[in-house]
Amino acid sequence: MEIIIKNSYEELSKYAAEFVKQRILKKPDLVLGLASGSTVLGMYKELIKMNLDFSKVCTFNVDEYVIDPFHPQSYTYYMWENFFKHINIKKENVFIPIDNPQEYEERIQEKGIDLQILGIGRNGHIGFNEPDSSIDSVTRIVSLDKTTIKDNSRFFNSISQVPFKAITMGIKTILQSKECLLLASGKNKKQAVKKALKGPITSEVPASYLQKHNNLFVVIDKEAGL
Ligand code: GLP
Repeated sequence: MEIIIKNSYEELSKYAAEFVKQRILKKPDLVLGLASGSTVLGMYKELIKMNLDFSKVCTFNVDEYVIDPFHPQSYTYYMWENFFKHINIKKENVFIPIDNPQEYEERIQEKGIDLQILGIGRNGHIGFNEPDSSIDSVTRIVSLDKTTIKDNSRFFNSISQVPFKAITMGIKTILQSKECLLLASGKNKKQAVKKALKGPITSEVPASYLQKHNNLFVVIDKEAGL
């Protein structure tokens, strides 16, 4: 595991974008696992500015709510608005888990993810693998944790509108990626980062399973620092 601590969110975003850029330059048909949420937004903005060639890149999003994909708070909408519509990626190379978890998993297994980008929830979730997720889990439908529903309610008009189910890649799926880049920013992530990277490997903190990944890079800002 390599831990990189940056002074600010801006620097973290630039570092993450540069990391992705290097992988695409080396392998133009990179299979890229993506995340949504506020942490990765800065990285997407930087990647857009870089004007990279995404024409051969294929992407798999780590998770999506069980929600109408046209809903403005769906991750599908988020990805197109904040990233895909600004780059030259082909629509047919974009995969988001919106309906059949098993098919999604099979497609990932066929392609193999080269680099998986991840954020982390305050409760230590990765993707929507909430506490109690098993190390053997694959893409599936899950129920969201109370903490997650509360945290994500900031994007919705009210907490009652937050979906309580989601589809997420599993821990096993994520651990199979060749490289993994975990991003965390801000003091409200400090505890989760500490438990994930320095604590025992436990289903209570799903991100702690990442300690088992052979090629894990963690980029955090000082506020989220260990
Ligand atoms: C969300 C998503 C994750 C995301 C994480 C952190 O609930 N399911 O994919 O990485 O939690 O989100 P944020 O960056 O907004 O704090």
